[in-house]
Amino acid sequence: MNAATAHIVTERLQGVLRVEIRRPEKKNALTAAMYGQLADIFQDAAGDKDTRVLLLHGQPGVFTAGNDLGEFLNDPPMNEDAPVFRFLAVFRDFPKPFMAAVTGPAVGIGTTMLLHCDLVYAGEGARFQLPFVGLGLCPEAASSLLLPALVGHARAAEIILLGEPFGAQQAREIGLVNAVLPDAGLLDHALLQARKLAAQPPAAVRLSKQLLKRSQTALIAAAMEEEDRQFKVRLVSPEAKEAFGAFLDKRPPDFSQFS
Ligand code: COA
Repeated sequence: MNAATAHIVTERLQGVLRVEIRRPEKKNALTAAMYGQLADIFQDAAGDKDTRVLLLHGQPGVFTAGNDLGEFLNDPPMNEDAPVFRFLAVFRDFPKPFMAAVTGPAVGIGTTMLLHCDLVYAGEGARFQLPFVGLGLCPEAASSLLLPALVGHARAAEIILLGEPFGAQQAREIGLVNAVLPDAGLLDHALLQARKLAAQPPAAVRLSKQLLKRSQTALIAAAMEEEDRQFKVRLVSPEAKEAFGAFLDKRPPDFSQFS
């Protein structure tokens, strides 16, 4: 099966649905339209018996630069049914193995979505970053719960409050990714692992995933609900507007006038 939209491309082979983010001219930044397409694809894949594993990846050298900052400035997602919130809910509830292969930058939601994945492979040049605070925002996708659970408060606070990028080896050390591979062989390796998973008995795989996630299911939903509520307020805050405008104007932000 092959399906293509402008910025999202899918292909299914041997039970593995490969979903590619393809907007390299904007470093694969995600627009509302792209979130909507991804949510539809994931929803269909969840109910499609021929899809046993989903593998998400970007372009060589870029996974995704996160949410499109122009859209955040000009058309922020304020409603519950906004495509980004639908995307996050479908991602969170996906009943089959969800895999990601990351090369280059994985910014914002590009990193937080990995906290929900089952298997994650990173290229040596992968760079992970949660720049929410520097953008005047706050954590999303339940990262305020899942990141400290993974790394402890001190390291989570450093990653979230300072928002500095970190590399593939550190991501491997903290358990965000399963393995680090040469960038060139990354996708082939991820596909190999995906095919192995697709050959496993599917009902046992789905049940085991559900059991692995069970202790956190309700907590994740509650964290996302609170984060979404706060995130929407932050999106239209003067701090965020200054940060988005500065990025788009290619200048450093100035937060000196805020208290
Ligand atoms: N939203 C909108 N446009 C983006 C974008 C984003 N999140 N990330 C990159 N772009 C655009 C740039 O504006 C630039 O567009 P232009 O060529 O029209 O000027 C183009 O993509 C290339 O980006 P550039 O910054 O020149 O690439 P780089 O290789 O130097 O850096 C990143 C790559 C991802 C590190 C950097 O672009 C970045 O930090 N992006 C913002 C990430 C972010 O804050 N995301 C939001 C998280 S909530």
